[in-house]
Amino acid sequence: MANLLLIGATSSLGARLCADLATRHSVRTVGRRGNVNVLVKDYRTVPASAFDQIDVLVNCVGTHAGSVDTLHQVNVEVPRELARQARAAGVGQIVHFSSLKVYGYEERIDETTKPRPNTEYGHSKLRGENALVEEAGPEITVSIVRPPAIYGGGSGSNIARLVRFMARRGFFVAPYGDVRRSFANIENMAPVVEQLIAARSPGVTLVADRGEMTLAGLARLVQKIARRRIRVYCVPRQFLLPLRILSRSLYNSLFESQIVTPTFQNVGKSLEDGLLEFVRSLLQEQELKF
Ligand SMILES: NC(=O)c1ccc[n+]([C@@H]2O[C@H](COP(=O)([O-])OP(=O)(O)OC[C@H]3O[C@@H](n4cnc5c(N)ncnc54)[C@H](OP(=O)(O)O)[C@@H]3O)[C@@H](O)[C@H]2O)c1
Repeated sequence: MANLLLIGATSSLGARLCADLATRHSVRTVGRRGNVNVLVKDYRTVPASAFDQIDVLVNCVGTHAGSVDTLHQVNVEVPRELARQARAAGVGQIVHFSSLKVYGYEERIDETTKPRPNTEYGHSKLRGENALVEEAGPEITVSIVRPPAIYGGGSGSNIARLVRFMARRGFFVAPYGDVRRSFANIENMAPVVEQLIAARSPGVTLVADRGEMTLAGLARLVQKIARRRIRVYCVPRQFLLPLRILSRSLYNSLFESQIVTPTFQNVGKSLEDGLLEFVRSLLQEQELKF
């Protein structure tokens, strides 16, 4: 059992980690609202007493929204300050949630892939990692987790929109050859954190569910749950390019492949099982069952 300090406990990820990790560890939660152990106004000024007797700090604070200044404050300054305080308090390990966005639009990502962010969010997450490592110094084991899009437990709004669209309209379009993407089930994150703590693994950890999602595969799942025929119309990629001009990030998340080779294989639920549950709960919630 370890003493954990969970920063950003009211984030979707933090809330889920808290629920899962608190059954086997002592978890002290830090947040700006809600039922947390340490209430703060700003994650850059967590009181020093919060770090007392802590073995591992887990940081879930991060945002992809807002101005460049906001991204810098939340994604760079927060981890830097947390690392500074953790070092002063003698914390042994930091598990920090970064993002796959540090790789930009790279199609295949494994441990040898070099970060090449191409969005402000990606840049800020990479700067945050570097600031954290620099401030933590050699005394602290820094474990950086770079997940793809996370789904479940309130996460996964893009994939939820896609599922709702398919269920309502009964069709979707895909480029010839379809799209293959990795995702991470929110339930699979606590086992990853526990493996990192047990092994005291430094460096970057890539996470992803076992398996890949294709648009045709997702349509089959929606069809199964909604009990409605979902057609996927395959079109030449050029037909989809107007969307790329309108919104590169939306085009990319729908129609570009991105596959991760995870550091820990076979952690938790497979993508197919996870997505089946996700689609089922979404469609029940929306009463879109036909
Ligand atoms: N969800 C994903 O698909 C995904 C994928 C890859 C990486 N990640 C990373 O995983 C971590 C958790 O993600 P999540 O989806 O669970 O996030 P979330 O639910 O949106 O919560 C974001 C967290 O960051 C804090 N935060 C956001 N904006 C802030 C601001 N302007 N000032 C101060 N604090 C702010 C929030 O604090 P309050 O609760 O106090 O508002 C909360 O703790 C983040 O670092 C994210 O970058 C997420």
